Amino acid sequence: MLVSRSFFSCVLFLCIAHAAFSQGGTSLGPEPSRAVSQPATPVASGPQITFNSVHVEGPFVAMTFDDGPHATLTPKILDLLAAHKMKATFFVVGENVAEYPDIVKRAAREGHEIASHSWSHPNLGKMGDDGVRREMQKTDDAITAAIGTRPTLMRPPYGSITARQKAWIHETFGYRIIIWDVDPLDWKRPGPNAVTSRILNETKPGSIILAHDIHPPTIEAMPATFDQLETKGFKFVTVSELLAMARPAPPKLRAAATPTIARPPVTAAPITRPAAPALRTPAPSPALPAPSPTPNG
Ligand code: NI
Repeated sequence: MLVSRSFFSCVLFLCIAHAAFSQGGTSLGPEPSRAVSQPATPVASGPQITFNSVHVEGPFVAMTFDDGPHATLTPKILDLLAAHKMKATFFVVGENVAEYPDIVKRAAREGHEIASHSWSHPNLGKMGDDGVRREMQKTDDAITAAIGTRPTLMRPPYGSITARQKAWIHETFGYRIIIWDVDPLDWKRPGPNAVTSRILNETKPGSIILAHDIHPPTIEAMPATFDQLETKGFKFVTVSELLAMARPAPPKLRAAATPTIARPPVTAAPITRPAAPALRTPAPSPALPAPSPTPNG
């Protein structure tokens, strides 16, 4: 009895020891491969300079107004934003900042973000570096003179900018380049209702909405636009606040997770395949009558 029991416990020990060893061995295998594959994902995304929209966990959007400040229309927008307790971002033209610094000062004082939209609104994509540098520097100086702080965001007029210019501007001025994902084409003056409905149809969480505070119909469109976006539950933040909320987009994670979930049925399929030839053998007989009715070729 004692001999058999000690023999049994000995075997048991060996089994456990073997299992522990083999687990240790296999666990070493996958870990280095995981360690290699994990850093690969963040490296692929890289540091982002340009933003059209962001993924956020919540109903947050950024309303942006370009080309101002305008002597009478920008104050109207500021009044409306104050009434709605909304924050917006103004991509200002340097020339206009120099002309109406007090309006820019008021916007900043009321919690809105002031960002660069160049000095004279040229097509930067067709300009040389010296010209672009002057456009950026003069605007940066005018904003700093008006509100006491430098802008950190820049939007190229017409959205026109080359990839090389983006990297160069980011390196030189530290700006992030902000485009948009909602464009009501309000500069074509399609009428206030069209502006409102286009914005309402296109806006989703994380959207950056483009509008211009220099066109009267755009200003007319804003009360209904703000009311209806608020009814839909959207909350308005500045672009910098929106960027700070940015989270990695889930579609990529889902896409990565789906194949691993889909794999078990795939691996199960080859197991059933060996049985398939048996099914295929009788298959030709029902399949044969089919070709026979059809004429040759
Ligand atoms: Ni513009």
